[in-house]
Amino acid sequence: MIFPDDSKSVLQQGVQDYVAWAEDKTVDISLTEKSVPVVSVGIVGAGNMGSSIAAIFLMSGFSVFLVEQNQLLLEKGVTRIHSILRSALLRGRISEGELTEYQLSLHSVTDYLELSSCELIIEAIFEDIDVKIALFNELNRVCNEHCIIATNTSYLDINVMAEVLSLPQQLIGMHFFNPAHIMKLVEVIPTESTTETILATAISVVRRLNKTPVIVNSCFGFAGNRMYTRYGREIQQMLLEGASIEQLDIAMTDWGMAMGPLAVQDLSGIDVGYKARNSRPLPRHDPGYFRAAALMVENGRLGRKNGKGFYDYNLKGKPVPSPEAERLIHDEALALEIPQKIFSSPEIVERALMALITEGLNLYQEGIVQRISDIDVIWLKGYGFPVDKGGPMYLASQMGEKKLISLLNQLQYQAGENIWPYQDFNILA
Ligand code: NAI
Repeated sequence: MIFPDDSKSVLQQGVQDYVAWAEDKTVDISLTEKSVPVVSVGIVGAGNMGSSIAAIFLMSGFSVFLVEQNQLLLEKGVTRIHSILRSALLRGRISEGELTEYQLSLHSVTDYLELSSCELIIEAIFEDIDVKIALFNELNRVCNEHCIIATNTSYLDINVMAEVLSLPQQLIGMHFFNPAHIMKLVEVIPTESTTETILATAISVVRRLNKTPVIVNSCFGFAGNRMYTRYGREIQQMLLEGASIEQLDIAMTDWGMAMGPLAVQDLSGIDVGYKARNSRPLPRHDPGYFRAAALMVENGRLGRKNGKGFYDYNLKGKPVPSPEAERLIHDEALALEIPQKIFSSPEIVERALMALITEGLNLYQEGIVQRISDIDVIWLKGYGFPVDKGGPMYLASQMGEKKLISLLNQLQYQAGENIWPYQDFNILA
């Protein structure tokens, strides 16, 4: 039984109560009492993530010091932030007075020295360990010993980063989701030496942003992206087995996911995951592993950012089916001698969900998450999982052990136990 004892009655009350309960449980409230005040926040990197992180900090009353590599990139970042603020004004979320106040609280700087008075610095620079290490060496020079240094890395080893700091205990992972001014989830990742005060302060800050913190222990991709990779592996494999791009996306959105998995890849940039996967050895037992995504990148199809990915994008930015993308995948399937089949929507959905459920169990058993319900919060708040289905682990508890075993047996029969290892679903009962 890995849902905690007090969840038993909640599980029986229904999905709405369960979701509220799970969200409330992510952090022990007594922990936040140890936090220290944060007024000024430095944000390094004003790209896609840094700009939207800066915007949400401004809209939550913090003073923000924004750093970029040069003046031109800094101005581009400031323009992005102003456009997020103006769009909040147009939607009636902030007033004219607040807009002016937030714009005045934004200080754009090109010298790291100007971060010296910040209580918290968040780095959102390129996902490259050498670039990040060079930055931490700079921060060593300018930060005071009480400053919290947070990394927004998606995949890199935060314990390696901490070792670069003169005081490794200053570092913590704060993994925001894209777009950061909208998505409610922040994975908070302590390193082996993060102090309780720093963990508590990071959590309090996330709460002040009106977001949901989930504490996650470090591993490649942390909790959310590790599950997303397992889910992605199945989606990619189904492409090679004959499902079409649109068919996969439609099956998942009709079932309730906010976006189809391949449309998501186009949105975030197919090259991002490609680089992360290639930073480690690819699994030898899985020749089709993310081959479709790799083909897109190798053929210059990076996603929305360059107008073509799994879909083509017309002049209005609308996705349209891409014969080239389909052909590349089909040719690869032939080269890999993968038998083709016709998929039904329920088959696609069950296989994708089983990937999430089994990887969720792994994460819990490895101690990456503290509670099984934390996984549901991560998927509801960060990945557009349908709220009325309660999250992948809640769903698994509703499906029941017998059904889960039967689905796993079928998948093992089709693809083997290397891809679908044995799982003890009894602990979900
Ligand atoms: P991006 O490429 O849009 O922005 C990175 C920015 O950092 C660029 O503007 C670059 O000029 C700047 N930069 C690089 N080195 C710098 C330095 N030494 N000093 C100051 N600025 C510097 O990248 P993006 O997508 O914003 O990602 C940033 C980080 O956030 C990465 O670690 C990424 O893994 C992580 N992340 C990305 C998500 C996404 O969906 N794009 C989601 C969650 C995390």
